[in-house]
Amino acid sequence: MKDKISQLKEEFYEKVKGKTLSELKDLEKYFLGRKGKVAELFKEMKSTPKEQRKIFGEKINELKSLMENVLRESIKEQENIEREKKLLQEKIDVTVPGLKLQQGGLHILTKTMLEVEKIFLSMGFDIMTGPEVENEYYNFEALNIPEFHPARDMQDTFYLLNEFLLRTQTSPIQVRTMEKYKPPIRIIAIGRCYRKDPPDAHHFPIFHQVEGLVVDKNVSFANLKGTLSEFTRRMFGESVEVRFNPSYFPFVEPGAETSINFGGWLEMGGSGMVHPNVLKNAGIDPEEYQGFAFGWGIERIAMVKHNIPDIRFFYRNDLRFLEQFK
Ligand code: PHE
Repeated sequence: MKDKISQLKEEFYEKVKGKTLSELKDLEKYFLGRKGKVAELFKEMKSTPKEQRKIFGEKINELKSLMENVLRESIKEQENIEREKKLLQEKIDVTVPGLKLQQGGLHILTKTMLEVEKIFLSMGFDIMTGPEVENEYYNFEALNIPEFHPARDMQDTFYLLNEFLLRTQTSPIQVRTMEKYKPPIRIIAIGRCYRKDPPDAHHFPIFHQVEGLVVDKNVSFANLKGTLSEFTRRMFGESVEVRFNPSYFPFVEPGAETSINFGGWLEMGGSGMVHPNVLKNAGIDPEEYQGFAFGWGIERIAMVKHNIPDIRFFYRNDLRFLEQFK
């Protein structure tokens, strides 16, 4: 019996060395469990002579509490080690770079409008705006385009209730400006326009124009040519020229189509001397003042400058297109 006790003690020391937490818990069962080694010894003790039982009982109890102490300490130690390990694994490295957010940018049309504004601002122009929902008077009548005038055909638009419509051009801002401010006037107005055009490579029901208007004493066609030439040089480069071809717009006289030579002659928009009727409609005496005006397409400017073959690209929201201009 004595040998068995010391053998078990040896076995215990042998087995408890270098064990993990779950192995220690298994050992606890193996030695101290209800059917464990120590319980076995207690059972065997009953078959030993009566006078030895007390001393064996004490010895086994001694071994039992030794095992309990060692296991408790070892288990505590292993628990600490495993917790440390877990903490190390869960450690957050605050120096790791964050996830990169996708960065947006201005649309190429917005950029073009800002560029146009910057150039005209530096040439002494002010910036005006007008409503996109216009009425027939400003969009047509006041611009010398009476009802049933054939010029209305080219600018068919979206009519709303009560004589309102989506403006077909930025030219109504000419009249709105002249009603509000006395000459000298030197403004541009950039904005969205609408026409009932089916979309193709060069047409879209929504587009943008930059309108220019200068009204003063002694304003001439030469001033118009000089202004658009200077703008063209700054926008497209030193060697690019503007060409004026006679054309008809009811609100200018004489009127001209304007093209630039940027890899062939490309039409940019219309221009001319403000028609006396338009000045009169806005309350300005045509005997005293003259003016010139022009209207160029923003999409045209961007298409020519950036070699964009189709106006629909601007409105498709295809990132492969948009990101080229970020
Ligand atoms: N508003 C005209 C158009 O959209 C362009 C234009 C503007 C022509 C100013 C002459 C003067 O076609």
